[in-house]
Amino acid sequence: MNWDDSTPDLADDAPVPTDGRLVGASADGEDQAVEAALRPKSLDEFVGQERVREQLDLVLKAALARGATADHVLLSGAPGLGKTTLSMIIASEMKAPIRITSGPAIQHAGDLAAILSSLHEGEVLFLDEIHRMSRPAEEMLYMAMEDFRVDVIVGKGPGATAIPLELPPFTLVGATTRAGLLPPPLRDRFGFTGHMEFYAPIELERVLHRSARLLDVEIDAEGAAEIAGRSRGTPRIANRLLRRVRDYAQVKADGVINVEIAAAALKVYEVDHRGLDRLDRAVLQALLKLFGGGPVGLSTLAVAVGEERETVEEVAEPFLVREGLLARTPRGRIATPAAWSHLGLTPPQHSPGASGQPGLFGA
Ligand SMILES: Nc1ncnc2c1ncn2[C@@H]1O[C@H](COP(=O)(O)OP(=O)(O)O)[C@@H](O)[C@H]1O
Ligand SMILES: [Mg+2]
Repeated sequence: MNWDDSTPDLADDAPVPTDGRLVGASADGEDQAVEAALRPKSLDEFVGQERVREQLDLVLKAALARGATADHVLLSGAPGLGKTTLSMIIASEMKAPIRITSGPAIQHAGDLAAILSSLHEGEVLFLDEIHRMSRPAEEMLYMAMEDFRVDVIVGKGPGATAIPLELPPFTLVGATTRAGLLPPPLRDRFGFTGHMEFYAPIELERVLHRSARLLDVEIDAEGAAEIAGRSRGTPRIANRLLRRVRDYAQVKADGVINVEIAAAALKVYEVDHRGLDRLDRAVLQALLKLFGGGPVGLSTLAVAVGEERETVEEVAEPFLVREGLLARTPRGRIATPAAWSHLGLTPPQHSPGASGQPGLFGA
């Protein structure tokens, strides 16, 4: 059985691929290769997320002091905020080995049974994208988490029998970008839940200085601040922009990253000072220039930018909404006053999107 092979399936809740997008938060091939080298190895090295870090520190230290296996941990948060990194840190702080798999890789309860029965005492099982696990596997996991036991079903039909199998105590670390999709019985079985927040620019600056050191790149404080401000609160994006800016600095200058180099490089890559890329700006531009700031339906907006509905809705909009540039209302998408000023445009007098009346953004 090949449970470490997380072949992406095309389930309904599968994320829309954002391959090749410089400000996309999912890991591409290059990210995966580089990230291993950039991951902090201990809680002390892990930047930001003070609350999660402090609470987790207590959970782990207490378990170590008791000589027990740590409680199951659920990490929720947007892609690229450090969930995988933190799971590896949990294992290393517990001085325990880690087994890595993901929800989509576990199609059958049998896949999960095979993994669980091969765990060693105290081992950390990292289950990425836990919300995408199949239903039968999920139910098996309930019992495994609570009683360290699974029922292996042997045979089919009326003759099938359940053979109980004892498991060694282990720590499940589940990661999800969609905590809301987890069934409550599963959520309840975690002893600790950490919600990962987007990072403040100053925290991303620390991430960037650390990564630059590991990549042997010279960067000054203003250069780091420039990149941090465009990184959408996400360390993975910060690290990716850093690598592109480094390329530019090597080719066009002496390799040192300062504010001018960072700004010039990110101009070439079309990432603006707020972290919007070409797609984001195309959506805003259509909304403002073609539809006077809205309201306009998602499908119409998508046609206007020549993209799929899903791409606009799932790739571009979440960040625009988060940034307060676009609002989703029952009547359609509308631009906020900030959108007009971000693109340097003047709102027409009667544009609903420009009026800034709170009522328009409600409900
Ligand atoms: N708190 C942090 N401090 C330093 N680097 C971080 C931090 N969080 C994430 N990173 C870096 O960002 C990248 C993505 O992190 P990852 O753990 O893979 O995110 P997730 O699993 O949430 O998608 C990794 O290269 C990691 O080194
Ligand atoms: Mg991850």
